[in-house]
Amino acid sequence: EADMGADLEKVLIPEVELQAKIRELAAQVDEDYAGRELLLVGVLKGAVMVMADLARALHSPVSMDWMAVSSYGSGTKSSGVVRIMKDLDADIMGRHVLIVEDIVDSGLTLSWLMSNLESRGPASIEVCTLLRKPDAAKIKVKVKYVGFDIPNEFVIGYGLDYAERYRNLPFVGTLAPHVYGGSGEQEA
Ligand code: PRP
Ligand code: MN
Ligand code: MG
Repeated sequence: EADMGADLEKVLIPEVELQAKIRELAAQVDEDYAGRELLLVGVLKGAVMVMADLARALHSPVSMDWMAVSSYGSGTKSSGVVRIMKDLDADIMGRHVLIVEDIVDSGLTLSWLMSNLESRGPASIEVCTLLRKPDAAKIKVKVKYVGFDIPNEFVIGYGLDYAERYRNLPFVGTLAPHVYGGSGEQEA
């Protein structure tokens, strides 16, 4: 705790605001999907917290499945070249799919994922992301549900990591530049 406090620059979105927003998003999803059975697809690992909280805030019954994808190549996250580390267990043909993400940054991961999943013939496919960075967008992706648009700063917590740390923070914060060298670009 003391350790993380030193690495934290500031709290960007406190826990109560996150949870209130998740409840709002869930109410909207419940309304929009009334009478349709929904498959939530969480993108590992960042989406675990929002997936767990969103799913519990929904009143309609849903199924949950997971994908793990990884950028590779140069090692920077924004190559847009993605490979599947863990595929869905479910066949999504004819299903109503809602992709759940923690953050849309450049949009490259999501753009790739949407075309990949669209090619499998779902009945519908939409995206719910807790965070989006409009100023970092490199490609336009249709995102139906957005929790918060945030500035282009390095964010951690509530699923979001820096070098696999800080995912367990219950809030979203910004990382002190001394931790990552202050280059500014968010890294996978
Ligand atoms: C992060 C985040 C999104 C993606 C967004 O995942 O969770 O999935 O990057 O970036 P983009 O819009 O620029 O493509 P990451 O690749 O860091 O893996 P992780 O979820 O396991 O942390
Ligand atoms: Mn991710
Ligand atoms: Mg990451």
